[in-house]
Amino acid sequence: MGARKESFTITDNRTGKSWELPVLKGTMGPDVVDVRKFYADTGCFTYDPSFTSTAACESSITFIDGDAGLLLYRGYPIEQLAEQSDFMDVCYLLLYGELPTPVQKLKFEDDIMHHTMMHEKLRRFYDGFQMNAHPMAIMCGIVGALGAFYHDRIDITDPTYRMIASYRVLSKMPTIAAAAYKYSVGQPFIYPRNDLSYSANFLHMLFATPCEDYEVNPVLERAMDLILILHADHEQNASTSTVRMAGSTGTNPFAAVAAGIAALWGPAHGGANEAVLRMLDEIGTKDRIPEFIKRAKDPDDPFRLMGFGHRVYKNYDPRARIMQRTCNEVLDALNAKDEPLLELAMELEKIALEDEYFVKRKLYPNVDFYSGIIFRAMKIPVSMFTVMFAVARSIGWVAQWNEMITDPGMRIARPRQLFTGPLKRDFVPLDRRR
Ligand code: CMC
Repeated sequence: MGARKESFTITDNRTGKSWELPVLKGTMGPDVVDVRKFYADTGCFTYDPSFTSTAACESSITFIDGDAGLLLYRGYPIEQLAEQSDFMDVCYLLLYGELPTPVQKLKFEDDIMHHTMMHEKLRRFYDGFQMNAHPMAIMCGIVGALGAFYHDRIDITDPTYRMIASYRVLSKMPTIAAAAYKYSVGQPFIYPRNDLSYSANFLHMLFATPCEDYEVNPVLERAMDLILILHADHEQNASTSTVRMAGSTGTNPFAAVAAGIAALWGPAHGGANEAVLRMLDEIGTKDRIPEFIKRAKDPDDPFRLMGFGHRVYKNYDPRARIMQRTCNEVLDALNAKDEPLLELAMELEKIALEDEYFVKRKLYPNVDFYSGIIFRAMKIPVSMFTVMFAVARSIGWVAQWNEMITDPGMRIARPRQLFTGPLKRDFVPLDRRR
């Protein structure tokens, strides 16, 4: 006889009836109670509106232990990847599950760098936007529009076509993002240079002009690569779950990624990096920090300390630690060590980490707290910060989308609800309404 399967027993205290719910075990992380048959068996739904206790899928890509402050991509600690790999390595790892061999790496990089151009007709789409349009709005539109260019040639049941679509997203995101920036400053779009690394080419498309040579600073190239690595994936966050949700309908991957970009934009998610910089600018000087800490603690004030807190991390976000170090290195390399914003951010962090309110709620700096200071030092405008995040996260989105499509248990995502509206009632014609 085999070992008894682990389970939970749930009892309906109204009737005394009991059901056994199987326990599923991952390789790491909390066990999961399988409620898939719960409704069919009991006629009840489970209720978890913000998914605080719900595993929405099975995944083998990224693991977070929020209490320990641990982040692993396919088992590899983020610190080791940040130190020893590059973004192309990480992309291959997330997409295929293993680090590439030297031959695989060369081919992958070559393939990605040879699909960087966008369709000439796509370039004209930008003209429809106001020059001061938020670049995240432009990203949603242009990435969504990719579906119009490749829709007929995508069969999402075919793994080859799925990979082609994934490569296209990864290859073209920096080109589309850089064009959004160029459009906002009225400069011509710069074509990609496939002889450069992914990160150097991104910087080239952002900052080169047709009339001047632009030499990519290797310190900034490495910093950009690192930022891309740190943001590449983060398991089932809001934007990734959105990509999975949209993708579960069988929609084309560009539409699913555009949905992910839209979800990322919010200040509680990727939009936080922009919000942090705006907050630091507003605080301005160290002596005003207590005033803002007080506001963040006031339950009647909607103000929150941006770049602080996380649904999963109840410890220092490991990405924030690396980001803080990189911030120092970049400022050093640019001879901007006395950047007042960094000093302000560090003081704000120190005060918050000693404050009982933040300690009790386990609110620590997250990845967005220091990234904006690096972006600003790199001369990337504040409104582009979340776009940088979107470029980085596109690999996570396509990796998770591929995983979802190949999951044999995959069905259209369809949450249920606790209905609290009116009971069934008869329509009242207009002339009888009071
Ligand atoms: N400043 C002040 N109080 C906060 C903050 C903050 N940044 N974050 C959470 N709290 C308080 C919150 O008011 C609540 O207090 P109480 O228990 O007294 O009602 C408690 O901490 C728990 O917060 P929550 O809103 O229930 O937590 P959540 O898991 O739903 O939200 C979060 C997580 C990241 C949206 C939130 O911490 C937040 O709004 N942070 C600021 C925005 C931010 O930095 N977002 C980037 C997240 S990391 C990158 C990414 O995922 O894109």
